Amino acid sequence: MRNIKLPEISEIPHDVFPKKVLQRQWLVDGKLKTWEGQVQEVYSPVQCKSEKKPFYLGSYPCLSGKESMEALGAASKAFDHGRGEWPLMSVEERTGFMSRFVIEMAAKRDEVVKILMWEIGKSLEDSKKEFDRTLEYIQDTIDTYKNLDRDNSRLKIEKGIIAQIRRAPLGIVLCMGPYNYPLNETFATLIPAMIMGNTVIFKPPKVGVLLFEPLLRLFRNIFPPGVVNTIYGEGQEVVTPLVKSGKLNSLAFIGSSKIADIIKLQHPKPHRMRSILGLEAKNVAIVMDDADLDASIPEIITGTLSYNGQRCTALKMIYVHKSIREEFLNRFSEAVDNLKVGMPWEDGVKITPLPEPGKTDYLTGLVQDARKHGAELVNDEHGAQVMNQIFTPAVLFPVNEKMKVYHEEQFGPVIPVAEFSSIEEPLQYIIDSKYGQQVSLFGTDSDKIVHLIGPLVNQLCRVNINSQCQRGPDTFPFTGRKDSAEGTLSVFDALRSFSIRSIVAAKDTEENKTVIRDIIRNNKSNFLSTDYIL
Ligand code: G3H
Repeated sequence: MRNIKLPEISEIPHDVFPKKVLQRQWLVDGKLKTWEGQVQEVYSPVQCKSEKKPFYLGSYPCLSGKESMEALGAASKAFDHGRGEWPLMSVEERTGFMSRFVIEMAAKRDEVVKILMWEIGKSLEDSKKEFDRTLEYIQDTIDTYKNLDRDNSRLKIEKGIIAQIRRAPLGIVLCMGPYNYPLNETFATLIPAMIMGNTVIFKPPKVGVLLFEPLLRLFRNIFPPGVVNTIYGEGQEVVTPLVKSGKLNSLAFIGSSKIADIIKLQHPKPHRMRSILGLEAKNVAIVMDDADLDASIPEIITGTLSYNGQRCTALKMIYVHKSIREEFLNRFSEAVDNLKVGMPWEDGVKITPLPEPGKTDYLTGLVQDARKHGAELVNDEHGAQVMNQIFTPAVLFPVNEKMKVYHEEQFGPVIPVAEFSSIEEPLQYIIDSKYGQQVSLFGTDSDKIVHLIGPLVNQLCRVNINSQCQRGPDTFPFTGRKDSAEGTLSVFDALRSFSIRSIVAAKDTEENKTVIRDIIRNNKSNFLSTDYIL
């Protein structure tokens, strides 16, 4: 049995306590309006020893469809069919607003990181990483957009036509992020959408809302009214009317394919709403007979269990060659059992309380179902133990197609392992899977690896060699096939995703040259311009 020690309130270090966030305000049309209606109480996944309930963090507004339509009205007014101040602004000006936001956001690090940690149970170290990665992402977005603009600051003359081609905004974008990276993955779509000149409405995930509160004033103070608006509450209440209105031009959603499909189909003309979706995955690790287990095991531990396995990129199925299966399972489950289980602020902690309601029951059910169908809990002594919202990692072997865990994205610390004799077995698993994101290959024989690269790059979107699956670095394209994604995200791709190329073109005549020359030389347009950002 694992000795999981819950803290007494008095034992929690003073400097990690968050301030209570009793949020009543929502941002619309450049104002923080006060909501007098119902609120959603927020509890941390952390529970202290002598307390009956988890730690209380605060509350946020449960808005109705009326407020959500008000946010849509504000975003529509600010975009004004492309005639608003924000979409017409020069790239240099818009990036200037964003640079100010980066500076002021950096000053909120401590406050946001603490709430993030308490709200979603992410370790303090990883919460800090999420904040810093987001700041870096915004800065990279600013730099990349300036470069894109520099590349487009010239005219083209082809086949008797003079033209200027630039990227223009789409219109109104709804951004919705996930609970596992509430700050980073919401901002990975919100920031590029804004910087390209769109106006946005953003709805934080159900869990991971309060951490945005310290940033609301910055959005209000820095950006023109209506450029960014927030909504909170039940999806059916606040999202459905927005989509049904037919006025959204783009949906940026990181979550489940089931919800994404429901949202998309609510649009009266779905082809008018460009979707950028990051969805589920069931990434496989294939451990070949010549794998270097000293190097592979720590990598597979990180791949399966970073943030308790709650990453879309986590390794969620392991295929290990029969000849090394026994050694692998012994060493792997020992390493799993050595991971530190505890509270998110503790040094070196790896396994922390899970924020989703009912998650430990779901994971317990997966383990029971697998055992019923013939799997063993390899780390029987320490695995699958529940203490409030903590679930200790469970290693299951051998898993087969009768078990739920073989098919479902567990999104938590349950690790299914199967053995193979022929490489066709894991390949067939990947072909039959509903998902198509990434794979990790562990082996040292380059001939074997090269044999797999071709088929796998045509099934998935990233093949990792002796490395865990991951999204980063954020300058690399991040996407998936089948039920795993629609569209591509990266610093550069996101700028493309939230914009469309528009052209100003004219026949190459003397009269047209005179008009174009006058516009350019006298800096009369932000679009038809050869001005170069220095
Ligand atoms: O949840 C899915 C995230 O996009 C994973 O990102 O690989 O950087 O942890 P990551």
